[in-house]
Amino acid sequence: MCALQTRKGKLPTISGKGYVMDAHENHDRLYHIELEEQVIDQFLEEVKDVSDEQLEYIPYERLMMANTLLGLVDDQFGQNLRAVLHDRQSGGFTIGLRGRTYDDQDYVKFSTALTHIAGIPNFDAMSKKYYARFSVKHTDESDSYLRQAYRRFTLHTDGTYVDEPTDWLLMMKMEESNASGGRSRLLHLDEWEEFDEFYRHPLASYPFTYKAPASKNVTEDVQRTTFYKWHNLPCICFIDQFAFPETIQHAKYLKELSESLEASSGVIELELPVGELVMLNNRFWLHGRGRFDRNTDLHRELLRQRGRFVE
Ligand SMILES: [Fe+2]
Repeated sequence: MCALQTRKGKLPTISGKGYVMDAHENHDRLYHIELEEQVIDQFLEEVKDVSDEQLEYIPYERLMMANTLLGLVDDQFGQNLRAVLHDRQSGGFTIGLRGRTYDDQDYVKFSTALTHIAGIPNFDAMSKKYYARFSVKHTDESDSYLRQAYRRFTLHTDGTYVDEPTDWLLMMKMEESNASGGRSRLLHLDEWEEFDEFYRHPLASYPFTYKAPASKNVTEDVQRTTFYKWHNLPCICFIDQFAFPETIQHAKYLKELSESLEASSGVIELELPVGELVMLNNRFWLHGRGRFDRNTDLHRELLRQRGRFVE
């Protein structure tokens, strides 16, 4: 077992005016945050005149989304939410709109409020804005696994090929029809049985080159070590598709690492209903997606935001 494993146990409940943050029903390491319906309704009412375009063009409007939500709960909410994302024992939560709306503009506003309580999103070069929406369908001609439905999208961290910190990520389910399978696969680094073996390996701190495919609109290469410390604890930076090993020995290390992650019994499969989102610390959580079952009418749309904490 991993020597650095943090102690596991039931996550403590955190609650305050308008919300409860409780251990997720199905997953020991995740919280589920429940906002009172009245908080959700009031939030939607207060932001109803803000357009997508305003959010896209005027950065302060995004922080005002956060401000509106924070005004409807107690003073501790923001701090508690950031504490969950920093907490090594957890580092992640799910939260949703509880069926109070099915409008995708509302989903963008709600996810924007949450990311701006956590910090500031990075510019997403793929979409050329602070968030990206992307679909998975039966057919796909793209140059990465992101939109390919019938392949497993292997466990990875985000932001490997960009030269800016990616502390957290948010994924929200916007729409779904005729989709079975394709669940999110998540792994907390401290749940990985073979962590020690790869962490103590001489290549653990080798700076691998990461390059993005054309669709990501990022042309600079970056060098990244697979493991590094953050707040004095080991973290991981890895994605199989964009790492460019230079020797067979390098290739073997990366391939074995990926296979070991995939085989870990710590991997959880998360069911995310439409209108719900998951937010994770990207430094010690890996994420991926299972295969979908074949269906010519398959459609799923996700929204993503990733970014940094503002200390
Ligand atoms: Fe990802």
